[in-house]
Amino acid sequence: MKHITCIEDLRQLHKRRVPKAFFDYADRGSYSEDTLRANCDDLAQIKFRQRILVDVSKRDLATTILGEPASMPLVLAPVGLLGMQHGDGEILACRAAQAAGVPFTLSTMSICSIEDVAASVDKPFWFQLYVMKDRGFIKALIERAIAAKCSALVLTVDLQVLGQRHQDIKNGMTVPPEWTLSKIVDFASKPAWVAGVLRGKRRTFGNIVGHIKGTDDITELSQWTASQFDTTLTWKDVEWIRSIWPGKLVLKGILDVEDAEQAAKTGAHALVVSNHGGRQLDGAPSSIEALPEIVDAVGAQMEIMFDGGIRSGQDVMRALALGAKSCMIGRAYVYGLGAGGEAGVAKTFDIIRNELLITMGLCGVNTIAEIDDHVLAV
Ligand SMILES: Cc1cc2nc3c(=O)[nH]c(=O)nc-3n(C[C@H](O)[C@H](O)[C@H](O)COP(=O)(O)O)c2cc1C
Repeated sequence: MKHITCIEDLRQLHKRRVPKAFFDYADRGSYSEDTLRANCDDLAQIKFRQRILVDVSKRDLATTILGEPASMPLVLAPVGLLGMQHGDGEILACRAAQAAGVPFTLSTMSICSIEDVAASVDKPFWFQLYVMKDRGFIKALIERAIAAKCSALVLTVDLQVLGQRHQDIKNGMTVPPEWTLSKIVDFASKPAWVAGVLRGKRRTFGNIVGHIKGTDDITELSQWTASQFDTTLTWKDVEWIRSIWPGKLVLKGILDVEDAEQAAKTGAHALVVSNHGGRQLDGAPSSIEALPEIVDAVGAQMEIMFDGGIRSGQDVMRALALGAKSCMIGRAYVYGLGAGGEAGVAKTFDIIRNELLITMGLCGVNTIAEIDDHVLAV
């Protein structure tokens, strides 16, 4: 991976190595993709203040996330179907995160189950929860996360209804999956990916299969899942989850100050300013546009995390400068995973770590705690 110098290089390699339907599933967004684009574009608009002749010989990315030490202010965001980007993708991404010294978040919609990942890694990981209509199943899922010693629960609150992603429909990433000749040809041209997925532990939703009656069949399972997103979800359900989950709770998917104020009242430890990577409400502001107001409103009461559009260490620095304590990355590591499995995710960390270190040096700061809006040009 010597010639891979940036996340875009990993993206190009991912595109070559993984079938189009799965690459597009990761890469694209909802409707016109305005919010997806704005996430990256608005970050790129933020300019740094170049400083000179400051001793920057002691730069250090170490920080804490939810009170635990982390080697840098990054978390791997929950991403569904990682095991379809690379066989055993969830396990490989979690191993890379733990080797890099940062948290990994396992999605409810993962291919490897909570237990598969727990049995394959040394340290605790975070678990992300989608609350479904079947509350018995959700309670059991939380109990499985407790049994697996997950160290935080990330409750995703921005997916009561599903934003349409045109490209998934065009590619036949529908429920149930649609097999076309072009898809078969595409898969056949990616033998390394096919071999990896066939070697992997599973090829379906690992957390759900077998736990719900009648969902051993992939088609029924997909239909059950699609019908389970709960439009009746309210703040009361957050209380219910708090009564079952004894550990640290993170609310993910907040973009509005009033919602952030409500979130602070729930006793959750952190919130993630996020628009689901431009995959839900198209036309919503970019995450970085929403961040400063939310930090002002509730930053003193809870830890503020950020995601949406991070493709470089410079982007991490921008979000920290506007008040985020740490950043989740989604696509940036999915590209690494598709490009090269565990080594590819490790490469994502190397790229972002080095970019952040250099950016800090050129802005004249040595520690993460020093980063605030004084590093930005006005
Ligand atoms: C392919 C894909 C699948 C995702 N699946 C989930 C999921 O299962 N649960 C969740 O809370 N967020 C999910 N997200 C959203 C991410 O957690 C995160 O908010 C988003 O990717 C951040 O934007 P970025 O990709 O620009 O970094 C997904 C994102 C992508 C790209």
